[in-house]
Amino acid sequence: MKLNIALLAGDGIGPEVIDQAVKVSDAVAAKYGHEINWTPALTGAAAIDAVGEPYPDETHEVCATADAVLFGAIGHPRFDNDPSAKVRPEQGLLKMRQKLGLFANVRPTFTFPSLIDKSPLKRERIEGTDLIILRELTGGVYFGERGRKDDSNTAFDTMTYQRFEIQRLAKKGFEMAMKRGKKLCCVDKANVLESSRLWRETVQAMEKDYPEVEVSYEFVDAVAMRLIQWPKGYDVIITANLFGDILTDEASVISGSMGLMPSSSLGSDVSLYEPIHGSYPQATGKDIANPLATILSAAMLFEDKNLTEEAQAIRDVVNKSLAEGIVTEDLAEGGKAYKTSEVGDWLAKNI
Ligand code: IPM
Ligand code: MG
Repeated sequence: MKLNIALLAGDGIGPEVIDQAVKVSDAVAAKYGHEINWTPALTGAAAIDAVGEPYPDETHEVCATADAVLFGAIGHPRFDNDPSAKVRPEQGLLKMRQKLGLFANVRPTFTFPSLIDKSPLKRERIEGTDLIILRELTGGVYFGERGRKDDSNTAFDTMTYQRFEIQRLAKKGFEMAMKRGKKLCCVDKANVLESSRLWRETVQAMEKDYPEVEVSYEFVDAVAMRLIQWPKGYDVIITANLFGDILTDEASVISGSMGLMPSSSLGSDVSLYEPIHGSYPQATGKDIANPLATILSAAMLFEDKNLTEEAQAIRDVVNKSLAEGIVTEDLAEGGKAYKTSEVGDWLAKNI
């Protein structure tokens, strides 16, 4: 197969982890006889510095015409500490999600056999966890009306949802549940928020189309607790943009490190693959960041192109590296810590 992949390394550790994902993907392509054509494009603070905006039109063009997008990370501290900044790297990510129509963000949570005891949670609670948080990605409070009033002494952000936005996400959720454990949990705050009541009403109306799926409705605060108490109770979770943002960071603790969890963002057209972690500015350029989340995101890309064996080859070699202790410092625990690039080299060689 010939694949044209847009490569958006972004900021901070983005370029370092992306390099490793490219190495590993190229190794897989060589082994299985595929050809990958990578097209780099600017985004985030890097794009602001170069052309004054975080998701330039040229970058959109590259993404929109690619078979898939592989994305590193976005964000830079010089903007975080400046609330008055007019352009922010994160705006690039949001604009990209919106312009590419990536409304469904798939964030799996699973455990790695050799890392279970590294999680701060007890083995018996997390072993065998296999859940997906399907986060709505182009609506809600991230995109609602926002602003200041009263001489800037009042600020507001609005959480707005339209029925079709909930329906298209829930449809993906039901379909995923059908292929997995046939359980769907709609996570909201319907005891307080009107938009959440629309979520419930919409999902309830869809239940009859998927009689085999067991559907539950839970409040987000309770799920924040249950998710780490008994993650095995969940199969597919569907939730609004902000709730999903928070719950997926929390869920990453189950697997042992933020540096491990991949994601895909799906729309009606091109899909994007990215680690769930951020740009980790303190580690920039040090060759210490964990590249596995990005590499496993590449595995999700292969899987979605129906290259199942290729995806499995990546997951297998990742498991092997963890079992053999070829890990970056976040997982080294006093043992030898390998560099980001060394982990990438090892994986590519062992594919
Ligand atoms: C994520 C990130 C982003 C988000 C930030 C960087 C805007 O936290 O992908 O989860 O909030 O969506
Ligand atoms: Mg987040």
